[in-house]
Formats: sequence, structure tokens, C-alpha cells
Amino acid sequence: MNGGPDQDALRAAAFAKAREALADQRPEDRGEPVSIIGSKGQTIEFWACERCGTEPVLNTPKQWCERCALKLWWESFVPLRYRRWTWDTLAREWPPELMAGLEQWFDLYTASEIKPHLGLIGDVGNLKTTACFLLARRIREISRFRTVVYTTADEMLRDVSRRRFETEDPIDDYSDADVLILDDLGVKEDPSDTWRSDLHAVIERRHREGLPVLWTSNLSPSGLQGVVDRRDLDRLSENSVVLEVPLKSRRKLAS
Ligand SMILES: Nc1ncnc2c1ncn2[C@@H]1O[C@H](COP(=O)(O)OP(=O)(O)OP(=O)(O)O)[C@@H](O)[C@H]1O
Ligand SMILES: [Mg+2]
Ligand SMILES: [Zn+2]
Repeated sequence: MNGGPDQDALRAAAFAKAREALADQRPEDRGEPVSIIGSKGQTIEFWACERCGTEPVLNTPKQWCERCALKLWWESFVPLRYRRWTWDTLAREWPPELMAGLEQWFDLYTASEIKPHLGLIGDVGNLKTTACFLLARRIREISRFRTVVYTTADEMLRDVSRRRFETEDPIDDYSDADVLILDDLGVKEDPSDTWRSDLHAVIERRHREGLPVLWTSNLSPSGLQGVVDRRDLDRLSENSVVLEVPLKSRRKLAS
């Protein structure tokens, strides 16, 4: 039951029926599945979400519905300061062309197997990090099983060097996630060779596997060249979307 507008509509109809059936379920039957008849006459079983008790979950008992799973992920993954923002609050601040750039990236992300990277460049405090979290949310809305890792570039490289001699390669954590948000690229003015080569290892592996990097930076494209290797910048811009955010800081108004 996935893919295609017709399939989506059938799926939505089945869930709506199941939601009604669960609402009508007798209290003594709670914890039992409800069966509904699908469009092809087949029987489909749904359970009530373990957490909210009202949303149907297809075929599996003791699971959370999509809505509860998204809420849990958002609250555990996204730092407090960013949790209250939504796509709409971002659209109130960012001009339509920038929002269109994000949509374009998202369309490429959903349409292609080799995922595009996204770069957001601009002055401090103009909602670049916020935009990355909101895109991660949209990805989780279409698939709750995609893993997202958030880190600043500097934190990542300090973590990698601290854990370098562990049996599990720390690079893996950043290379294998479905989505990597790599925030504040280029904060270090004079990066060491180790810093550069660890960064390269992560970017190279993700690029090769077609896994996206959502990166942000306060540096201009030419400023970035002093910090990030040319070959890495080249990879990050291949079939990717890089947007310059021309706005001033929102921090004075916010928080
Ligand atoms: N729609 C909004 N309206 C007002 N403030 C917002 C909005 N969305 C986010 N903020 C707040 O604005 C502040 C700056 O946002 P954010 O951290 O995303 O900027 P940034 O571009 O990543 O900054 P930096 O380059 O310094 O990392 C944050 O405190 C954030 O919570
Ligand atoms: Mg930021
Ligand atoms: Zn639920």
C-alpha cells in the first residue's frame, strides 16, 4: 500500500474507515485489531496506536501511529529553541524565492535515488539551521525510518578525533545516516590537515553513496574555499541546491 496518487487515496480511505471502526470499538475489545474491507474486497487489520489510542496502525500491534512517531522524534531530536518553528513561520521570514529553492531541493530529494546536497549560506541568525530542521521534518513525514544526524562541523570533527581509536569507526556515524545536517561549516579559521581529512572522509563517503548533506555556513563561497577543500566543495555542489540567504539576523527579535 504505497506509491502513486491512486494508492495514496486508497490508503487514506482505508485509514479513515479504520479510524471510524476504532472509534466504535467496544471498550472490552480494546487492544484487539479492527478489520475493514479494502477496495479489492480484501480484509485489512488495524490496531489502535499504542500511544494515542485513536489513530490506526496498519497490521502491527503495539506500535505508534505516524503522528505520534513524528511528534516523539521532533521532541527528542530537535533542540528546544527550534522546536516551535514550522514551515509557515519560516515562510513568513524568508522570501518566496528561497522557499522555492527549499521546495526544489525537497522535490529532487524525493525524486532521485542519488540525493542532492543542500547548502545554505548567509549572515548569522537568518534561520538557516531552522530551515534544515524543518526539511528533516518533511523527510520524516514521508518516511519515519530515515535516520537524521545533526551536528555542527566543528563538533563532528572533535567527536571524530576523540573517538578515533575506538573499534567502531566514528566516521561511520556521520557517513551512514540517511540525512546529515552539518551546521556552521567553516567556523574554524585555520583548520588542521586532520580536520580537513576527516571532513573529506565524511563528505566523500556520503557523496559516493548518494546520501545528502544539508550544510550551512556564514562564509561566502570564496571564504569557504579557505576552510573546506576544493574537491569537497565541488562534491557538495554537484547536482545540488546552494542558496544564499540575504537576510539580517532574527535573533534580536526572537527569543
Ligand atoms: N520564524 C521565525 N521568526 C523569528 N525567529 C525565528 C523564526 N524561526 C527561528 N527563529 C529563531 O531565530 C534564531 C536564529 O535562527 P537560526 O539559528 O536558524 O539562524 P542561523 O541562520 O542558523 O544562524 P547562525 O548562522 O548564527 O547559525 C533562533 O533563535 C531561532 O529559534
Ligand atoms: Mg545556525
Ligand atoms: Zn498515535
